Amino acid sequence: MATSMIKVAKAISSNPGTTKKIVLTRLIPTAIEALTKNNCDVVYYDSTDEKIPYDVLEAIVGPDVDGIFCLLTDTIDENIINKSGDNLKVISTLSVGFDHLDIATCTKKNIRVGNTPRVLDVATAEIAFSLMFNVKRKIVEAKKQVHNGGWGTWSPFEYCGSEISNSVVGIVGLGNIGLTFGKMLSGFNCEIVYTGPREKKDIGDQINAKYVSFEELCKTSDIISVHCPLTEETKNLFNTDAFDLMKESAVLINTSRGPVINQEDLYEALSKNIIFGAGLDVTTPEPIPTDHPLLTLDNCIILPHIGSATWKTRHKMVDMTVENILLGVANETLAYSVN
Ligand code: DGY
Repeated sequence: MATSMIKVAKAISSNPGTTKKIVLTRLIPTAIEALTKNNCDVVYYDSTDEKIPYDVLEAIVGPDVDGIFCLLTDTIDENIINKSGDNLKVISTLSVGFDHLDIATCTKKNIRVGNTPRVLDVATAEIAFSLMFNVKRKIVEAKKQVHNGGWGTWSPFEYCGSEISNSVVGIVGLGNIGLTFGKMLSGFNCEIVYTGPREKKDIGDQINAKYVSFEELCKTSDIISVHCPLTEETKNLFNTDAFDLMKESAVLINTSRGPVINQEDLYEALSKNIIFGAGLDVTTPEPIPTDHPLLTLDNCIILPHIGSATWKTRHKMVDMTVENILLGVANETLAYSVN
């Protein structure tokens, strides 16, 4: 097909003739340089901001590929893994989340899978924090009025929100990012509760957090921050049933994965004031269509998945992914391993 052929032409080889072939799904010059220096031929998709189309990825992986360096926007499913053939040794993603990768197939085929844990804990928790403040104190809504002339005479109850201090904060998924978010709350005199598949007493104790059921967390929290991975169990976790349990004053923050929240149900809950507000760094799909009903609501702030977007963090994530790829193609244990 004509379109596919044009797009395939955007896949460029950095160092043909060398022994290890790496497919890189985006143009990341520092990664290409580091891999090329280490005797790899990098076949990369020649765009910094456009996701590699699935058919292009399908066309450039082949039996000669040793490693795949991918992003959270790329679906690496059984078909892509099989097309890569038996030579494929490693897949490493420039993200901590790996719900876009078929881990079971990789493990079955002895393909090492890597990700970028820990380095983005602070950056992502800070975005959750920013969303929490912005929604609770109506910052975006208030800013909009300054710009559009809606800022009238100072009025006692206009733009009133509620405080973070002394709130009950519910953390869904007390992993590294959830814990970092919890630590950031110190000084705000909040009561912290958390939920997840099991109690993590030692971790919970670090932030004085109490393990509760999901239902209990929904009922008691003023703020809920979602940090769990996307799995079959967490998909659509926040639906009408959950919103009906939540306080009318509750704020929901999501910096994990979009499908953890049922967006149709969230729209209902926000537009009918069943909950107070939501701050989302992740949506379904990404990007969210500009005519999506959630974008019409003043009590919903949506960001373009910028949780880990600090220079320091993103550069470190590239370094970690390169390190994983080089270890993987050398048949060595990955520094940051998923399977
Ligand atoms: C990740 O790395 O999985 C995060 O979603 C980035 O923000």
